[in-house]
Amino acid sequence: MRPLTPGDVRIAACREGDLVALDRHLPSPSHPRRYTRQLAGLGTLLVAWDGGQPVGHCEVRWDGCAAAEVRGVVGDCPEVNGLFVWPESLRRHGIGTALITTAEDLVRDRSGPRIGLGVKDGNTRAAALYVRLGYRPAVPRYLDRWSYVDQDGRMHDNADPCAFLVKELG
Ligand SMILES: CC(C)(COP(=O)(O)OP(=O)(O)OC[C@H]1O[C@@H](n2cnc3c(N)ncnc32)[C@H](O)[C@@H]1OP(=O)(O)O)[C@@H](O)C(=O)NCCC(=O)NCCS
Repeated sequence: MRPLTPGDVRIAACREGDLVALDRHLPSPSHPRRYTRQLAGLGTLLVAWDGGQPVGHCEVRWDGCAAAEVRGVVGDCPEVNGLFVWPESLRRHGIGTALITTAEDLVRDRSGPRIGLGVKDGNTRAAALYVRLGYRPAVPRYLDRWSYVDQDGRMHDNADPCAFLVKELG
């Protein structure tokens, strides 16, 4: 595989026609929900592209973190959610950082001085990246509750212990 630099990667808000490529290369049951939220003005689904192939994504949730424990402390501070880079061979090439800094630029331009994100207990490498980018703990412990429907139509409920970090954008 050729070496990839952050300059090779283009980041843009998801368009309807991108959903097919997203499903092919980065399958997730969350894409339609995130795109619907974007259409409603509640989020922006950012997609990182290497040529015609999506290689990462994250959502800026303009309405903030869904968890009440977090909202009680930081209110509706916009949240970066669903950060993901794939394939693994493209990690550590700056794509995750480029997605986060694009999200920060959007928030700075549009809504205000702060942005936050949640990181699951034990995801020490992601936490190290966020600290390096200037994120600091605001809520040391909350439960990130999320659900999905499997191929047989069964609902699965999850609750991941997480910390919520915030960056002052200045
Ligand atoms: C976290 C993630 C988005 C980072 O993307 P990335 O493109 O590798 O990020 P960058 O290249 O900008 O930065 C690399 C840094 O990310 C961190 N990192 C997080 N997870 C990592 C992983 N699995 N492999 C390598 N580095 C990782 C490290 O701090 C690394 O710095 P280092 O190279 O000095 O060790 C990516 O690793 C990923 O998709 N992980 C799986 C999903 C996930 O954990 N998402 C975060 C949810 S909070």
